[in-house]
Amino acid sequence: MRQRLAIFASGTGTNAENLIQYFDQHPKAEIISVYSNKGQAGVCEKAHNAGILLHLFNRSEFLSGEVLQKLREEKIDWVILAGFLWLMPKEYVEAFKRKIINIHPALLPAYGGKGMYGKHVHEAVLRNAENISGISIHYCNSVYDDGDIIAQYRCPVLSDDTIESLSERIHKLEMEWFPKVIEQLL
Ligand code: GRF
Repeated sequence: MRQRLAIFASGTGTNAENLIQYFDQHPKAEIISVYSNKGQAGVCEKAHNAGILLHLFNRSEFLSGEVLQKLREEKIDWVILAGFLWLMPKEYVEAFKRKIINIHPALLPAYGGKGMYGKHVHEAVLRNAENISGISIHYCNSVYDDGDIIAQYRCPVLSDDTIESLSERIHKLEMEWFPKVIEQLL
């Protein structure tokens, strides 16, 4: 039986799209649905174009456990956070113990925590003149960017890097490694 994955995302959705393509016709897993709290987000159109079921929800549906119920109804095995900014409530973390995976565009525990997302992360890395950055793939718990790390991949930070050039390098790492790490966990 193929394992059933749900993706949570509220941004552009390039990671979600990459995962959808990677697991298309995959023998071990399939992407069942995309969950988003932002109807206007790029990820919604990407899910639609790929023919993947999209569930939109608001904060009260999320916090009341309605969304968790939906995950159960869909018999989801793994929850993949790909640019989802809300904290996962305890109830979700306990229901999916070590089955909720997040990706973060820096080398945690550095540059993580509330407010550390998207360009804010790269801005901080550049401000501190770091030589190295990268990505972290980790289990999600109920504290921002705090769960056990599964894998990290590094890239250089160049002296003339801008937020755009650094985020492009990080993005390449995300495209290459996120699907593979998930695949290994299955
Ligand atoms: C990625 O950089 C990911 O590391 C972070 O959110 C971003 C999502 O980008 N958690 P996208 O929406 O997949 O393009």
